[in-house]
Amino acid sequence: MTDNILKLENVSYSYPDGTLALQSCSLAIQRNIRTVVLGANGAGKTTLFLHLNGILRPNTGRVCQNNIPLDYSRNGMRALRSRIGLVFQNPDNQLFSASVREDISFGPMNLGLGESIVRDRVENALLTVGMIESADKPVHNLSYGQKKRVCIAGVLAMEPEIIILDEPMAGLDSVMQEELTATLEKLHTAGMTIIIATHDLDFAYGWAEDVIVLKNGHLLANGTPDEVLLQNDVKVTLGATPLVAELTRQLCLIGIDLRDKGYLPRSKSEMLKAITAHTGRERTP
Ligand SMILES: Nc1ncnc2c1ncn2[C@@H]1O[C@H](COP(=O)(O)OP(=O)(O)OP(=O)(O)O)[C@@H](O)[C@H]1O
Ligand SMILES: [Mg+2]
Repeated sequence: MTDNILKLENVSYSYPDGTLALQSCSLAIQRNIRTVVLGANGAGKTTLFLHLNGILRPNTGRVCQNNIPLDYSRNGMRALRSRIGLVFQNPDNQLFSASVREDISFGPMNLGLGESIVRDRVENALLTVGMIESADKPVHNLSYGQKKRVCIAGVLAMEPEIIILDEPMAGLDSVMQEELTATLEKLHTAGMTIIIATHDLDFAYGWAEDVIVLKNGHLLANGTPDEVLLQNDVKVTLGATPLVAELTRQLCLIGIDLRDKGYLPRSKSEMLKAITAHTGRERTP
C-alpha cells in the first residue's frame, strides 16, 4: 500500500498576470521515497513546490499532507513550515539576514528552541555544507554556489520531516554536488522524505525512486526511473534520455547485454560494474 505524505488533488493555479502554471494537476509524494520532479523550463516545477509548502494556494483543487487538507491559517502555516523545508531555486529569494550564521539560526530560533540546541544545529548544518569558515561573512558577499549552500544549511537546521529542493545542484561545484548527494542519502536513511526538481537526467536516473514529469502544468508521467525516463513522450518533452540508459541501449544493439536479471545499470559506477561482470575482466585504470 502506498503511503502518501503529500498530495495534489486536481490543482489549478494562475499567477496574478493570468499565466496558467498548473492545470488540473493530481499527484502524490510517497513517504521516505526519493522523488525527482522533471520538466522543461516553465513546466510548473517551482509553482508545484510553492504549493507543497503553502506559499501559493490553489485556485481550484487542494493540497493535502498526510491526507489532511493544508491549513492556510497563520498557525497552520507555521506548523507546516516546521515540517516541510523548501530550498528555493534562487538563493536571493531565501536569504535575508546579515550574516551566514544569523540566516541559518533564524528558522530554528523561530521554532522556539533553546539557545544551545540552535547553536548545535547551526554548527552541524554549517559543517555539512562546508561553510563553517564563512559563518560570520555577510550573506551578500557570498558567491552564488555559497549562497545555495547557506540556503540548504538553513533548511537542514530546521530538521524537517520533508525537504524540498528546487534545483539544488545548479551552481554547486562537483565536490559539493557529491557531498550534497551523500548528505541527502544520510537524511533519507534517517527517514526523511526528499523531493528534488532538476534538469539533470543522469542524476535523476541514478538517484530517484519515483519520477514525476510535468509538462505545461500537467502531470505527464509518474513512476520508477525506468518506467518514466525511457518513455517516448517523456524523451521528446525532456529532449534527452539519461546517458547511462542510452549507452546501455546502444551496447545491447551490438550484442553486449548489461542487464543483470532484468536490472539495468542506473549510474556510471553501476555501468562500470556491469561491464566488468559482462566481460569477466577487471578494467585497468
Ligand atoms: N510570479 C510569476 N508571475 C507570472 N508568471 C509566473 C510567475 N512565476 C512563474 N510564472 C510562470 O508560470 C509558469 C511555470 O513556471 P515555474 O517557475 O513553475 O516553472 P519551472 O518548471 O520551475 O521552470 P524552470 O525549469 O525554468 O525553473 C511559467 O510559464 C512561468 O513563466
Ligand atoms: Mg523552477
